[in-house]
Amino acid sequence: METIKTLVLVGGISKNSLNQRLFNEIEKHYHGALAFTQFAIEKLPYYSQDIDNGTLPIVNEFKAVIKNSQAVLLITPEYNRSFPGVLKNALDWGSRPYEQNTWGGKPAAIMGASVGKLGTFAAQGQLRAVCSFLNMHVMNQPEFYGTAQTLLDETGLIDKALPFVQKYLDSFEQWVRQHISMVGSKQ
Ligand SMILES: Cc1cc2nc3c(=O)[nH]c(=O)nc-3n(C[C@H](O)[C@H](O)[C@H](O)COP(=O)(O)O)c2cc1C
Repeated sequence: METIKTLVLVGGISKNSLNQRLFNEIEKHYHGALAFTQFAIEKLPYYSQDIDNGTLPIVNEFKAVIKNSQAVLLITPEYNRSFPGVLKNALDWGSRPYEQNTWGGKPAAIMGASVGKLGTFAAQGQLRAVCSFLNMHVMNQPEFYGTAQTLLDETGLIDKALPFVQKYLDSFEQWVRQHISMVGSKQ
């Protein structure tokens, strides 16, 4: 079966980011057609219209990666009941200049892990609203709210979490395939 080029953005950029660890474990254990490419969003400068003129190589690279992707997977921490600014910054870059929104029409999914009991519930709600405005087609169900305790231990993904993670990504693959069969690939 053909693979699906899937851009991954991880909203945690610290060395021991829980969400980066979650994605690292996905790369190790996931079996399926989603072919992941992570873009390191911390390499992007802060968005300003003053520098949004098509001359920054890193921004051009980012936009090319978005355009070339068939699907987008966002993995986010929760910061103060929202998602981190570094992730918003990346979404903003991809959305501009005006009328050149590169996110439009991309099928997407949101995962997240936090140390709080609500497992990024609030962050994902806000992220979903932004993605909706950017005209991404975000999978509604299933949802993935992870807590550090239920997902990871010092050795990696805990055994019980693996089927849940796999099932979520299988659903996403199905979502992307349905999307492609209906509207074609926007890459
Ligand atoms: C600025 C800041 C705000 C935070 N706010 C929340 C929050 O609203 N809800 C929550 O569950 N955890 C919150 N946390 C704790 C995070 O869940 C925890 O730091 C987690 O490791 C973040 O994910 P990351 O390691 O991938 O960056 C916050 C952490 C920071 C640094």
